[in-house]
Amino acid sequence: MAKDKTIRLHRKRDPYPVLMGRGLLADSGRRLAELWGTRKRIAVVTQRRIDRLHGDQLRLSLEKAGLNATFISMREGEHHKNLDTVRNLYEKLSRHRFGREDGIVAFGGGVVGDTAGFVAATYQRGVELIQIPTTLVAQIDSALGAKVGVNLPSGKNLVGAFYRPAAVLIDPNILATLPTREFRSGLYELLKYGFIYSKEIFRKMESSPGTFRPLDLSLDRAIALSARVKLHVVRQDERESGLRRILNFGHTIGHGLETASGYRWLTHGQAVGWGMIAASRLAHRRGLIREHTRQRMEAAISGLGRLPKLGCLNRQKVIEAIRRDKKTGPQGLRFILPVGVGKVEVVEGLPSDEIAWVVKSLGVGRR
Ligand SMILES: NC(=O)c1ccc[n+]([C@@H]2O[C@H](COP(=O)([O-])OP(=O)(O)OC[C@H]3O[C@@H](n4cnc5c(N)ncnc54)[C@H](O)[C@@H]3O)[C@@H](O)[C@H]2O)c1
Repeated sequence: MAKDKTIRLHRKRDPYPVLMGRGLLADSGRRLAELWGTRKRIAVVTQRRIDRLHGDQLRLSLEKAGLNATFISMREGEHHKNLDTVRNLYEKLSRHRFGREDGIVAFGGGVVGDTAGFVAATYQRGVELIQIPTTLVAQIDSALGAKVGVNLPSGKNLVGAFYRPAAVLIDPNILATLPTREFRSGLYELLKYGFIYSKEIFRKMESSPGTFRPLDLSLDRAIALSARVKLHVVRQDERESGLRRILNFGHTIGHGLETASGYRWLTHGQAVGWGMIAASRLAHRRGLIREHTRQRMEAAISGLGRLPKLGCLNRQKVIEAIRRDKKTGPQGLRFILPVGVGKVEVVEGLPSDEIAWVVKSLGVGRR
């Protein structure tokens, strides 16, 4: 029998297991049956493209384990991470007579994970959820940490819940079919961990940005390291009343850009890339980092590839979306700014003129 190469990313007392291994998808049926038994009916929420590429492997694995699964597709794109899709999924679950004792598997990227997760948290007051993330963003970030939710036209993730999955199963082999743009989006989130916590990740990405490729084993180490950083942070502050805020590095401005774009043409990772550039510029302007560090930071971000230009976005719309973001404290907008490589600080009450300055510096509204 082949040796089981699956590794455990969670700690013993963590509320749910997070397992990672190349080939884990083919074994996911057995893992699900261990967790849930074989009496639960399973709704696999996914997207057509993912189903076409990887669905049969999951189906076969579930069948082999004696599990009864129904595959349900939702539409692709950030602009479908909304309440219409949620309603549509509720209707489909109800039509198939899914009940509270059944389970949902979110099989996709962050859009599927967040939306199906929110459905799991709310359908019939909550059904159990397992995340099988299929993008780099989802494997290192969105599937971990129990935040689920959808966007409103006025802002990102404005409707949501904290809802723990029963397990997260990460198979890096699935990333081999990711389009380059989507893989790169994940690299921005990977770099985020370098900025906020891990000099090792930052240095690696700074010195050789092309290091990580879907089939390279070095990627496994980076995924494991990032996932462990996220779990470590969430373990201490699941509900984001303190430490967890550092995970929002690059996200306040990033979310503003995504909202102002109507959740089209800019991927979440690209928006975070721009957001991290903005954070470095703000930090430098406030004297938190030296010019040399700012340049290093921006070079590490640009090293991942060219970010889409922001000239077509309306500057006022971006600023309004940033102001409406959830990351607001009693003193106004809260920002996470770098104070060195691998270290960030929470800054409260950033004045409007600084936000306007940095948004302009990104080329927003400059046609
Ligand atoms: N909940 C959280 O804590 C958290 C954290 C970070 C990001 N997010 C959310 O995650 C979302 C972004 O997720 P994303 O970047 O994964 O985007 P995504 O889910 O839209 O996936 C990107 C595209 O890749 C396709 N795809 C997925 N897996 C594939 C595969 N293996 N092969 C080929 N194509 C594949 C999808 O169909 C989609 O078209 C955003 O909505 C963001 O807000 C949430």
